[in-house]
Amino acid sequence: MANASLVIGNWKMNGSQALTRSMADALRAAVPSCGDTKVVVCPPYTLLAELTRHCYYDGIAVGAQNVNANENGAHTGEVSLTMLKELAVEYVIVGHSERRAMYGDDNSAVAAKVTAVTQAKLNAVLCVGEDKQQYDAGNTWQVVEQQLQAACAELTPEQAAKLVVAYEPIWAIGTGETATPAQAEEVHANIRQWLVKRFAAIGEKIEILYGGSVKADNAAELFAQQHIDGGLIGGASLKEDQFVAIVQAAQ
Ligand code: G3H
Repeated sequence: MANASLVIGNWKMNGSQALTRSMADALRAAVPSCGDTKVVVCPPYTLLAELTRHCYYDGIAVGAQNVNANENGAHTGEVSLTMLKELAVEYVIVGHSERRAMYGDDNSAVAAKVTAVTQAKLNAVLCVGEDKQQYDAGNTWQVVEQQLQAACAELTPEQAAKLVVAYEPIWAIGTGETATPAQAEEVHANIRQWLVKRFAAIGEKIEILYGGSVKADNAAELFAQQHIDGGLIGGASLKEDQFVAIVQAAQ
């Protein structure tokens, strides 16, 4: 039995008003039978209001893919936490590898965002993970630990209660190449140990998600691992039948 508590769909720069409505319908039909698993959908900013309108009730939450850590001001093109809160956003993805690689989200920017999101009492989904070269060199844990340390440097235990960690090996993102359940489990167990050392009892409760080519046919096995509390799903979260099946596999 999987018993995964959290499944998050990250649409990245995909989706439409029509998909938002049809996904909301599909999830509304499926989620009541999925017990305690919380489902979060993170569409692009432009679809948040539509998703909130169609989807907002217990069991399905709305998430954003990024945020600016500043309160307001001269930040052309950026979106603040206050703006997200007005749209009933509950989760914010921070430090996704695509943002780290292409949009300048270095460790210090990621730390500022995690601090701001959790201070605002929203849930920060902190993404960590190694690239192929680091993986091949056997440096996975070294990289992940460094990312955790940097992102959590300023966090109080109270803020940590609003933290979710997503382990996403970069070589598994969008490639169809998934970490084996055993590989993922080993990293997740290390993350759990690190969180408990850093945040004591609160560290036990922080959800640790796996991301990287999770599909309907491999989700159950991944979610069955002791330290995998759910998934951060990219491509498969854009297909109603796939995403619903992944949510169902979490049970
Ligand atoms: O945020 C989601 C991850 O990047 C995983 O994406 O499921 O398409 O591999 P993927």
